[in-house]
Amino acid sequence: MNRREFFAVGTAGAATLFSARGFAALSAAPAASPSIPPLLFGVDYYPDQTPEHLWEEDAAAMAAAGVTNVRIAEFAWGLMEPSEGAYDFRWLDRAVAILHAHNIGCILGTPSAAPPPWLSQKYPEVLMVNEHGVTLAPGTRRFTCPTNTTYRRLSVNIATEMAKHFASTPGIIGWQIDNELTLGDSARCYCRSCREGFQQWLRKRYPSLDAINQTWGTVFWSNTYTDFSQIPVPLPSGAPPNPGFALDYYRYQSDANASFLEEQLTVLRRLCPQHFITTNNAGLVDNLNLRDLYRNLDFASADNYPSFFAIILADSGASLPPEAIAALTSLGHDTARGLKDGKPFFIMEEQSGKSGQPFFSPQPEPGQLRLWSYQAVAHGAFGINYFRWDTAVFGAEEYWHGLLRHDRSHSPGFDEIVQTMRELKSLGPEALHAPYDAQLGLILDLSSDWALTFQPGQPKLKYLSELTSWYGSLAATGRGVDILEGTEDLSRYKAIFAPLLYVVSAQQAERIRAYVQGGGLFFAGFRLGVKDERSRIVETPLPGLLRDVMGVELYDYQPIYAETQNVKFTGALAAADAPVHLWADILIPKEADVLATYTGGANPGKAAITANSFGKGKAFYLGAHLEGPELARVLLTLLASHNVPRAFEAPAGVEISSRNANGNRWTYFLNHNSEPQTVPLKESYQDAFDSSAVSGTLTLPAYGVRVLKSKARG
Ligand code: GLA
Ligand code: ZN
Repeated sequence: MNRREFFAVGTAGAATLFSARGFAALSAAPAASPSIPPLLFGVDYYPDQTPEHLWEEDAAAMAAAGVTNVRIAEFAWGLMEPSEGAYDFRWLDRAVAILHAHNIGCILGTPSAAPPPWLSQKYPEVLMVNEHGVTLAPGTRRFTCPTNTTYRRLSVNIATEMAKHFASTPGIIGWQIDNELTLGDSARCYCRSCREGFQQWLRKRYPSLDAINQTWGTVFWSNTYTDFSQIPVPLPSGAPPNPGFALDYYRYQSDANASFLEEQLTVLRRLCPQHFITTNNAGLVDNLNLRDLYRNLDFASADNYPSFFAIILADSGASLPPEAIAALTSLGHDTARGLKDGKPFFIMEEQSGKSGQPFFSPQPEPGQLRLWSYQAVAHGAFGINYFRWDTAVFGAEEYWHGLLRHDRSHSPGFDEIVQTMRELKSLGPEALHAPYDAQLGLILDLSSDWALTFQPGQPKLKYLSELTSWYGSLAATGRGVDILEGTEDLSRYKAIFAPLLYVVSAQQAERIRAYVQGGGLFFAGFRLGVKDERSRIVETPLPGLLRDVMGVELYDYQPIYAETQNVKFTGALAAADAPVHLWADILIPKEADVLATYTGGANPGKAAITANSFGKGKAFYLGAHLEGPELARVLLTLLASHNVPRAFEAPAGVEISSRNANGNRWTYFLNHNSEPQTVPLKESYQDAFDSSAVSGTLTLPAYGVRVLKSKARG
């Protein structure tokens, strides 16, 4: 999935962090300089694209704007290694020195996302082969194979030379490895090197070739392999690929990218132990297991461009209310926070103006840039870099607008960003490093996502769309959502949600069972537990491993093409009938109570939604696909009737979330609407900035933000 598809799918659905790493360098500013607080608020900066006589002016203006750090050099391979093995860091030394003289720290990017022409000319084998079997052309970025040994060697070489050269350079505080791994036009490689790599990967994961044949069921269509070298990659063939084989290939490519990163990480850790190390990704990327990617990195970094959704929406003719767009952005942030089990994350790139490549978004409305920055912090960001300082006058992103315009005057958002950085810094490290307060958990399962990519059942059924639809419903509770794998201890959450958990591992089933048994509320969507983690369809009645917990068995499952079926709600859910779209799991209650039945269609009177008491808890099965508003009504009603009501009666488009530390609680009220809104408050607060007392009602201007402080709830 490329960047565009990623946004398109999304829109369809609508502590001490650092252990001092890196900040030693920041505070080691020359004695004459004021000390810099350990806060990262800055910009992405391209001295490589800027005439040198402007660097001093840039650094002075950044310092005046309150910038504490920049991310630089992540695409400057050609300037740093103009020919193979000949390194030139003199220009970068000068840029870093100028920035440092202004107390601006540098996060250095390793440049492997953009190999120079000499490299692809001399070693054409580094080029990626995409899913159609087409070899990508060089000349842009992200066109290389993650397993090719030459590309890996040269990537590690440049990272090593950078690390040696900059290990003790004053002002260097940390590293970003590569840039947005897999978020190019093609996310996976299918070249000869990857084919051999896949065969090796399979050898390590399976006891024998026979086990692979058994697991995938290669007897089907006479695909039994008699030698590892016969195992192909899922390039176009005469028919869709074997699903078990394709799922393993996606896992292998994800591992390949993670191990590509690890090679550079090993070197950087050894040579620069005092620096922090991260990489960056758009919040919600599903072609790569980001948890694996970040496992040994110091913190997660997300890139955030909220108004990109506007371009996609305009293109597709769809329209979404402000709260739905806000939820897409928040889901990205919550996903980023989940990558390091809730640790605060960094925004490596934050939208600062009109943005896009061939098409660009409108200029954000006055107040929106500030709102989006607070939204990130509200969800657990500890700092923000704005993309980018200036606006390039050439190149594929010459319309990706920064803080300076093409003529280097201030952009329309400049003052707002400067003000926002000043405000957020004054919130202070305690608030910025405080853990996010999430009472709900949403399972994002990549195996289910990938398996459904091969066989969605109904062409319009998309894992991420369904996930965002559930997330949007939960966001309205104001109770905070953690994005989980489902293999964690779930006991601290008030409720757990699992839309489209198509593949259920034994470990997930155990965690969910223990959670419900212990008193938890579990909500599953349709297609639950159809496959095991090897991609084999379970040979018991559905929902497979979770039958006992859910207290139901499936009578049948149905893709919906003609919407002739409705759901009739009963009891606590009573309301007008709702149409069923896309999918219906037809349920037979064994122990469960029926909360809704199908009307019309082939299964009138059969169960569509059930609730099962299991141990001390309850498990709900939502068998019918419901559109967003109906889904939200069902989930919020069931939560409220089980002691989890909405935390605030906030109007649509007003987002509320909290972070807690040391008995303090910071609650962020964010108005995503273009009109003022009022929120009734249930407790008394102090304004986080001026300590004034706030109670009764809170009125937020259009795109307005308030941060209120109170004592943390026990
Ligand atoms: C991404 C990349 C940047 C730049 C911006 C704008 O997040 O990491 O290099 O391309 O988007 O496109
Ligand atoms: Zn490859």
